[in-house]
Amino acid sequence: MRLNPVLTGMRPYPFLALDKARQRAHDRGLILIDFSVGDPHEPTDAAIRQALIDAVEERSTYPKATGLPELKEAIAAWLARRYGVQLEPRREIMPTLGSKEAVFSLPFIALDKSSGKDTVVICEPCYPIYERAALLAGARVLKLPLRDENRFLPDFSELPDPEWERVGIVWVNYPNNPTAALASLDFYESLTRLAVERDFLIASDEAYSEIYFGAPPVSALQSHDRSRICVFNTQSKRSSMTGYRSGWLAAPAELVQGYNFWRPLAGVAVPEFIQRATIRALAQEEHVVRMRAAYAAKRELFLELFSDRGVEVVGKEATFYLWCRVPGEQTAEAFAARLLEQGVVVAPGSFFGASGEGYFRLALVPTLVECQRAVEILAEVL
Ligand SMILES: Cc1ncc(COP(=O)(O)O)c(C=O)c1O
Repeated sequence: MRLNPVLTGMRPYPFLALDKARQRAHDRGLILIDFSVGDPHEPTDAAIRQALIDAVEERSTYPKATGLPELKEAIAAWLARRYGVQLEPRREIMPTLGSKEAVFSLPFIALDKSSGKDTVVICEPCYPIYERAALLAGARVLKLPLRDENRFLPDFSELPDPEWERVGIVWVNYPNNPTAALASLDFYESLTRLAVERDFLIASDEAYSEIYFGAPPVSALQSHDRSRICVFNTQSKRSSMTGYRSGWLAAPAELVQGYNFWRPLAGVAVPEFIQRATIRALAQEEHVVRMRAAYAAKRELFLELFSDRGVEVVGKEATFYLWCRVPGEQTAEAFAARLLEQGVVVAPGSFFGASGEGYFRLALVPTLVECQRAVEILAEVL
């Protein structure tokens, strides 16, 4: 059978390879503690679960792809409280089926290749979807490295002048997966000026905005000019709701309209009971405060261990990831394989792009007790 060669030509999603290694270790009877995937194990707050149950109706009809007005209002109210920005709920906000769906769709909706704008810029190491979606949409991808010496911020001056003519979308992601780095408002302001000058859309993935350990991260939405900014966020990390598939985007009205055309075709409407549970989740911050405290406790355990063992933690500002330098001379994959033999699963940095080689990512998602056990194991092997 003939399949789309762009799809079949892609390296398998890196985490699938890890699944196989995990299964082999499991078959050998190893009990694994899994720090590889950013899937929170913290319980979803009881009030959110109850809101979901209460919203399940006797009859279940197709939800509208555009989302419930009440949820759009709840998102706008949250944005106003959190960042002091005012958006028009009906025109500038759209609930999405988790944020991955909307992140994936962006180049299909927002790139006009016929105008010569056929290029998507990504900063790597990064969440793999930005690149894969762009390639599947027939776009050209340019990569900018995120380097330790630049606090894992991209240096846009590395892109030669003629390239900018072709750039339609620039992806940024802060708090950053996998490097745990933060961006300042100055960063977003100067990126906004560049976007106006070079005529591109800023796609700002802010999935981890609520997982932080110091001052709350800023949003690209706080820039002086929002006309070229699309922000993606999600309940997955903020409220430990990965299984609900509930995210949203905030963008100029024309782009939201583009999503309004696209999403009914792709069949990605959010079920209404999920939307109602999301309204409940956005109305309160207590569970998010508790969540941050839980991650902070786990983070402390590992920071202490790594500091004792001389493992350099190069990224720890925000998110529930620690981005660490692989000790010694081994590759990231070899190091991860060695830890897996001991029952501790981490993600090799190379999974997130070539610039991730030499690093590993630890997702602080297992329980505190599991983290304590992993620290004991690692204390033996590091
Ligand atoms: C950087 C980043 N963006 C987006 C997502 C997608 O999250 P979701 O689809 O659960 O909202 C993830 C998931 O891990 C992520 O790490």
